[in-house]
This record gives sequence, C-alpha cells and structure tokens, in this order.
Amino acid sequence: MSKQVIYRQSEVKYPVADQAQNLRDLIGVSQPRAMKLITIASGKGGVGKSSLSVNLALALTKLGQRVLVVDADFGLANVDIMLGVNARYNLSHVLRNERQMSEIIQEGHGGIRFISGGSGVIELLRMNDDQLLSVMQGILTLRDPADVILFDLGAGINEHIVRLILSSGETIIVTTPEPTAIMDAYALIKTVSRESLKHPLRLILNKVEDTRESTTMIKGFCELVKNHIGSEITGLGHVNYDEDMSGAIKRQMPLLLSKPNSVASGQIMDIARSLIDIPTPQPTSKMGRLFAKLFGA
Ligand SMILES: Nc1ncnc2c1ncn2[C@@H]1O[C@H](COP(=O)(O)OP(=O)(O)O)[C@@H](O)[C@H]1O
Ligand SMILES: [Mg+2]
Repeated sequence: MSKQVIYRQSEVKYPVADQAQNLRDLIGVSQPRAMKLITIASGKGGVGKSSLSVNLALALTKLGQRVLVVDADFGLANVDIMLGVNARYNLSHVLRNERQMSEIIQEGHGGIRFISGGSGVIELLRMNDDQLLSVMQGILTLRDPADVILFDLGAGINEHIVRLILSSGETIIVTTPEPTAIMDAYALIKTVSRESLKHPLRLILNKVEDTRESTTMIKGFCELVKNHIGSEITGLGHVNYDEDMSGAIKRQMPLLLSKPNSVASGQIMDIARSLIDIPTPQPTSKMGRLFAKLFGA
C-alpha cells in the first residue's frame, strides 16, 4: 500500500452516493443541469493529471463542448501556468469573501476557462469540510457554468480527494505504466470502491513508450480491478510519452495547441470523443479504409 494513503473510511462524514447528481443533491441545488462533472485523479503525483486536464479541456472545446477546468489541487495548483496565465484570483479570495466565484473564473490559452486552486496558499491547503462544501456549492451554483466541468485533483489519497471523487459523475484515473503509479491507482480505486462500488471509473494510461503493450495493460488492469475489488473500470485509452508535453509546460502552451497533429494530441482527441460519446471519425481515404479493415479498427 502506498505511503500516501492517509484516508480512513470512518472519516467520511458526508453521505456517499453513486450517481452523477449526488453533490448537487447534497448541497441542495434544485435544478440539475445536463452537466458532466468529471474528476481526474491518480494516487501518485506526476503521472499527467494536470497536463491531461488542460489538453482534454482543449479537445472537448474543439468538439463544441463548453468546458470549465477547476484546479482542485488546492494550494498546489498549476493549471494556470499550463494555460499561460498568471492567475490573479484563486479560491482563497472566495473563501475570504473578497470575490464571488464567478469573478475568479479566468481564461487561458484556447479560451479555456478555469478556476485557480491557488499556489502556496496555506488556508487552501488546510481547507476544512465545510469550506470544501462551500467551494463546491459556489462552483455548482454558478449560472450556466459549462457542459463539462473537469476537476483536476491533487495526488495522494485523502478524505477531500475521496469525497470529491464520489461527488462527481465520473472519475478518470490516470496512471503511467510504472508499477508504483499502477499500485497507487489501484489503492485509490480500492479506497473509493469501499464507499461505492458503482462510482463510474475510467482509466487513461499516460506516458506510454511501448504502444504495443498498452492495450494489454489497460485490459489487465481493468480485469484486476473487477476480480479483486469488484468494481468496473473502463479503459478510455492511452497517451504516448511525448517530450513536447513537458516542452509545452515550459512554453506555457498546451500540446493540443502547439502540436495539434502529434500522435499524443490525436490520442487525447480520441479520449475526449469517448468521454462525450462521439464516435471516432473513420479514415476517409481509400488506403485508410483498407488499413482500418485489415486491422479491424
Ligand atoms: N504524455 C506525456 N509525455 C511526456 N511527458 C508527460 C506526459 N504527460 C505529462 N507529462 C509530464 O509529466 C510531468 C507531470 O505532469 P503533470 O500533468 O503535472 O502531472 P500531475 O498533475 O499528475 O502531477 C510534467 O513534466 C509533464 O510535462
Ligand atoms: Mg497536477
């Protein structure tokens, strides 16, 4: 078991539900919107949650979705940097009643709207249950916020993370092929599943260097989770290791904008399509169709 596991089941004080609308029910938002609430989690840090959140936001926007990214790595946020913005306001301003939630929404590259979780802000690191609930309430009661809200969570397994996961409609678990990342993803799923076996879980294998292995790995992991934990997790796909992903952070320009035609960008677009149930376009050229037929794509 990972050293990062500090969550204890008995600590969950809020009711646990397993449906998409449960947080809205919990905080009493009466008019449920057709809005997807997706948490992006991992267990281990550095596996690519924030990079994927930002690039998936861009991919979903390209597909016509209105997206809001919430940097829920409270106190250690970095989505703003990835989107090329020096965030002026963050959730601490809302907690201190200095700003309304709607006033702290900022826009980064590609017109992506986001809420900054604040960096190095002690009160965000020490947020208590009531503050977390009021933050979530503020986000969900925003007028017409988005079709999809992506919550980029922090690393580790703690009470806040588990609560946010269970409160969302679905959770994307990100792992890399590294055994330590896989162990932590497994530990997180086990912890979440102890509370709800029905919470919808998806898997992205990131930083893949040997693409031939990825399908087998994803399939193997999903089977392991089903057989040993008893919950269903569906593979959303994999994203190749791409040096330009780190380059993108240095340049503060997300991969989907700087290298839209790269393999990794294409894979992220495919994942975005699966997330909103849009079929992946079939190759249109004669040769493309022939290959698709030959390889059963
Ligand atoms: N597919 C990828 N290929 C190569 N590097 C990646 C990939 N995805 C993420 N990274 C790099 O991994 C590091 C951690 O990514 P980040 O998104 O901050 O992870 P997390 O949010 O899970 O901590 C960054 O340097 C990022 O550029
Ligand atoms: Mg991150």
